[in-house]
Amino acid sequence: MSSILASLSKTKAEMESVGITDNIRLSDDEDSIVIIDQTRLPGKLEYKNIADLESAYQAIRKLEVRGAPAIGIFAGYAMYVLSRKDAGLDFDTFYGNFTANREYLNSSRPTAVNLSWALKRMDKVVCDNKDKPVREIVELLKKEACAIHSEDIEMCLKICEYGLSLLKDGDGVLTHCNAGPLATSYGTAQGPFLLAKARGMNIRVFVDETRPLLQGARLTAFELQRAGVDATLICDNMASLVMRNGWVSACFVGCDRIAANGDFANKIGTSSVAILAKHYGIPVYSLGPTSTIDMNCPDGDHIRIELRDPDEIRTMWYEKPMAPENVKCYNPSFDITDHELLSGFVTEKGIVYPPFDVNLKKLFDEN
Ligand code: MRU
Repeated sequence: MSSILASLSKTKAEMESVGITDNIRLSDDEDSIVIIDQTRLPGKLEYKNIADLESAYQAIRKLEVRGAPAIGIFAGYAMYVLSRKDAGLDFDTFYGNFTANREYLNSSRPTAVNLSWALKRMDKVVCDNKDKPVREIVELLKKEACAIHSEDIEMCLKICEYGLSLLKDGDGVLTHCNAGPLATSYGTAQGPFLLAKARGMNIRVFVDETRPLLQGARLTAFELQRAGVDATLICDNMASLVMRNGWVSACFVGCDRIAANGDFANKIGTSSVAILAKHYGIPVYSLGPTSTIDMNCPDGDHIRIELRDPDEIRTMWYEKPMAPENVKCYNPSFDITDHELLSGFVTEKGIVYPPFDVNLKKLFDEN
């Protein structure tokens, strides 16, 4: 751990040399949050300003900003930007608006715990400082939002280092969905591939396209190709053959919520990857910050799975029809991977191995 800490500034520079690391920031006048609109990728790398509550809600809901840690970072900045507009109000009116904004944003997507985690942190700042002038509280909210962001950067860098320690030059790895810098600050599940590239290592990455919204094809393939990583795009149903061919020695995936027993929610299709990998004897690692662990959630059965618009299945990214109109669809956005299928969680505090119910708890008891 100490050697990892000592090298973090080097890791940061290496990640910045290969990844897009400015996907979320405050605008210079602090009236809005500037995000990369992820729905426009890979065709257009477009930045968008989000200045009001409804746009912030829709940005999360429509996946303009997505990925568990990125949603948390965005929500922190959004609460600051919205609170700043109310800085002239008396405390009770200010807190009434703050609570309504927080609850509305929290209702945008249910599965990733990072959203409610960040919103609770912002709420605590207001509650702990309610005797101070509202303008001062607003400044403290800015400090907290920036802290959520910078802590995520530090967590990602450590996760990238720990993740890379599991790989050697020439390895093949399969990944699902997008957990690169676009989905976080500096990347979790795909961060080690970028770091490997920056260090001159050759890791061959097989990228699941990740139906229905193609986060793998649109975002992961884009991020990896742009960095010069050896990335091969496959359809989700090709993973078994890739594994059978002996082309991958590990699977790296992200996480949206980790329950206390180690069951975890991640993008729909993750559990299929883990089940296949078990069949072929390939280890599966889930990489994510400890802010994604929900110790109040006992197991996967208690994780709420977001159900999304059936048109995401019936049409090609809301445009061309590719199924009969009005055909019945089931469109869960996430699934639960049973803890027994997982080899380890790669967190900023190190790699957590089974038994997960004991070892995840230790992470919080010891620190
Ligand atoms: O629906 P999305 O695109 O927000 O789903 C994202 C994922 O499932 C990621 O794997 C997860 O959030 C981890 S991001 C570091």
